[in-house]
Amino acid sequence: MKQVKIFDTTLRDGEQSPGCSMNVREKVKFALQLERLGVDIIEAGFAISSPEDFEAVRAVAEAVEKPVVASLARMVKKDIDAAWEALQGAAHPRIHVFIATSDLHLQYKLNKTREEVLAAVSEQVAYARSLCPEVEFSAEDATRSDPDFLSQVVNAAVLAGAGIINLPDTVGYATPGEIFDLFTAVRSRLPEGVDPDKLTFSAHCHDDLGMGTACSLAAVRAGASQIECTVNGIGERAGNTALEEVVMAMDTRKAFYQAATGLNTRQLYRTSKLLSAITGIAVPPNKAIVGANAFSHESGIHQHGVMQERRTYEILSPESIGVPQSRMVLGKHSGRHAFKERMDTLGYFLSEEDLTKAFESFKELADKKKTVTDKDLEAIVSHSGAMQHHRAFHYVSFVINSGNTITSTAVVRLRVEEEEKERVATGDGPVDACFKAIDKIVKKDVHLENYTIQSVTEGMDALGEVVVQIKSGQNLITGRGLSTDIIEASVKAYLNAINKVL
Ligand code: KIV
Ligand code: ZN
Repeated sequence: MKQVKIFDTTLRDGEQSPGCSMNVREKVKFALQLERLGVDIIEAGFAISSPEDFEAVRAVAEAVEKPVVASLARMVKKDIDAAWEALQGAAHPRIHVFIATSDLHLQYKLNKTREEVLAAVSEQVAYARSLCPEVEFSAEDATRSDPDFLSQVVNAAVLAGAGIINLPDTVGYATPGEIFDLFTAVRSRLPEGVDPDKLTFSAHCHDDLGMGTACSLAAVRAGASQIECTVNGIGERAGNTALEEVVMAMDTRKAFYQAATGLNTRQLYRTSKLLSAITGIAVPPNKAIVGANAFSHESGIHQHGVMQERRTYEILSPESIGVPQSRMVLGKHSGRHAFKERMDTLGYFLSEEDLTKAFESFKELADKKKTVTDKDLEAIVSHSGAMQHHRAFHYVSFVINSGNTITSTAVVRLRVEEEEKERVATGDGPVDACFKAIDKIVKKDVHLENYTIQSVTEGMDALGEVVVQIKSGQNLITGRGLSTDIIEASVKAYLNAINKVL
């Protein structure tokens, strides 16, 4: 069985999608979850692109032990130097250099001739290789490049020392058949004496025509042994190939692909949830593998079939990706010991401090809600990241007066250092009134851009999860709040975002 490496680029290509930016702390938290999931390579950022990206690469490189950590770099010395500097703390560093190879990009973007591109590849790949033992080369827009020129460029990169060759479908244009042919052709035209199986060929597909997963798997069939992808398929435009889809496709159809990944698939659901909690971008209910409806059967015929024999309509089980159970697991009288034990069973490895915070939230919830399920615990833990932010403003209480015949009024009380401040505001509904009362206390120029609410579990006493995005200057900041009361969840989410701004 061939081993296929999973190269996760959620923190680099994924973060390039609108509204998906993460701060360094969030990136490290997510990278640690990727390590638990067992990904082989984490692309932590594009070190030269901003001081924040540099810091993110540096912090992720320091934080994880097992995965290779990669930083992207253009084919220029200053980019490569920045990538290498940021990767200094990595146990297994990789410099990932790229340059476009299609005539379209050469003419309109790079303003370079083919000869200049070839020269840059030979020179800069060799330079990167003189610094770092592992160098990946990407031929941007490979699928729209002249195949002869693409092969020349790939061969130059191989001769200069690149051990990993990535052929991206940058604009999601290729069909699976074309990808198969492209990988087959490039692998068969390597320099004399170079064995294609001694190199790592990599697929990096975008999903503009909804074929990212199919194209990546076609590349595997043509000899690729690395797939570049993002959790929940986030990324530029329509996104990148979704990690959970390629991993579960190979897991479910092992015999067909004759390929396997080393991932712990039971961490997939949690990883998806964590990303949504951090970015505030919800997964569509019908999303393959991790969507809320991926395992629910609505029609009577299907339900009947599944009750008789699950395999009639289910090709993979919710357990295989770690979907938590909805049954009651803990109650009001459960103590810290039982709580910790349940956390351990669910595979959470919390520090004492995080465990204490999560336990406090659990106790609060258990007071309001009769049954606390694994899904609730999942939500509590994914929100504990929100609690870790330095909080200039602490939520104390709110009172609202609202109805369809009156103007909504809110009284919100917050603690700032040792002092409590209370303000009253009216608004278009109770949430708006609360946010305006908070604005009066905080006195910061922020604008609400987005507001979403969804329930974590079923039932009247379900936890509501609110995600807000506020704009402060040019920055879009995400805040999250969780409560059985949706107004309280909204207040917490808004305040979480404001505290991040501050
Ligand atoms: O889509 C793309 O071509 C990329 C490269 C920079 C690898 O993201
Ligand atoms: Zn890309």
